[in-house]
Amino acid sequence: MMRSGSLLIGLLCVLSVAVVQADEPIVIKFSHVVAADTPKGKAAERFAELAKEKTDGRVEVTVYPNSTLYKDKEEVEALQLGAVQMLAPSLAKFGPLGVKEFEVFDLPFIFDGYDQLHTVTEGPIGDELLGKLSDKGVLGLAFWDNGFKVMSANKPLQEPKDFRGMKMRIQSSKVLDEQMRALGASPQVMAFSEVYQALQTGVVDGTENPPSNLYTQKMHEVQKYVTKSDHGYLGYAVIVNKAFWDGLPPDIRTALEEAMAEATVYANEIAKQDNEDALAAVKESGKSEIIELTPEQKAEWMKRLAKVHREMEDRVGKELIQSIYQATG
Ligand code: LMR
Repeated sequence: MMRSGSLLIGLLCVLSVAVVQADEPIVIKFSHVVAADTPKGKAAERFAELAKEKTDGRVEVTVYPNSTLYKDKEEVEALQLGAVQMLAPSLAKFGPLGVKEFEVFDLPFIFDGYDQLHTVTEGPIGDELLGKLSDKGVLGLAFWDNGFKVMSANKPLQEPKDFRGMKMRIQSSKVLDEQMRALGASPQVMAFSEVYQALQTGVVDGTENPPSNLYTQKMHEVQKYVTKSDHGYLGYAVIVNKAFWDGLPPDIRTALEEAMAEATVYANEIAKQDNEDALAAVKESGKSEIIELTPEQKAEWMKRLAKVHREMEDRVGKELIQSIYQATG
């Protein structure tokens, strides 16, 4: 009697632990490197809300903005190790993961606006690109927009010759490296969290980013000129640790996929306006002068940078580049 009594108590203990565990929310740590008040920061928060709503609180997404948890390179390692579950790195940062094809998005002037870009990110080329992640222990869930980049420096950058000898911070993409070299500048790879200080102290002379990133990191306060060149695109792939995702209960996974689809619509709705607002705010601040290129100057940039497409064929794939030309007509 004693024995079966203690067995029963033991069994009840096990059951109650199981119940407690079943009640514990599933935690998703979503780490990123930009400010909360950016297209990516806001979309991450929206995903967190939607995930909670659609799973009746069974999933809790905690967003860590501004490199509070990890910097660029570390965050990808942390995802693979399972220390965080979700990221949205810029497409220029997938080289270290072994997916060089994503650097096709960095090719100068490859997209003439968001509509052209979406024919790629929302079509079969985009699906195929996301599929390339799966043998890296990572699953690609969506593309999120940011926008078209400006160039900044303490001198006006109007023509390719103005870049000669300039040290320009770039993300870790070989295409961006080649782009800066084609302009006669010296590219310096650096984590996003270090850019403001590097600009302030003169470790680098200038940089490129969409206005929303420039403004929210206050880079315009330490750069006298911002050229509205729209010379390249910066956007994101939302990725998760594959083992974690595959291990989720199917109903939870379905709910999270729905949340991601809605967050993606939101991300891609706000990005353009956010960047326009950020550029207006930079102008308003009076700290940086906004330079608009004349059509002749823009044509000069395009002419100088055209060779980057050819030179990067081996890195990102000639067929991929051709298929993007075709898709964007
Ligand atoms: C950068 O490093 O400049 C960007 O990738 C930051 C970001 O995530 O938008």
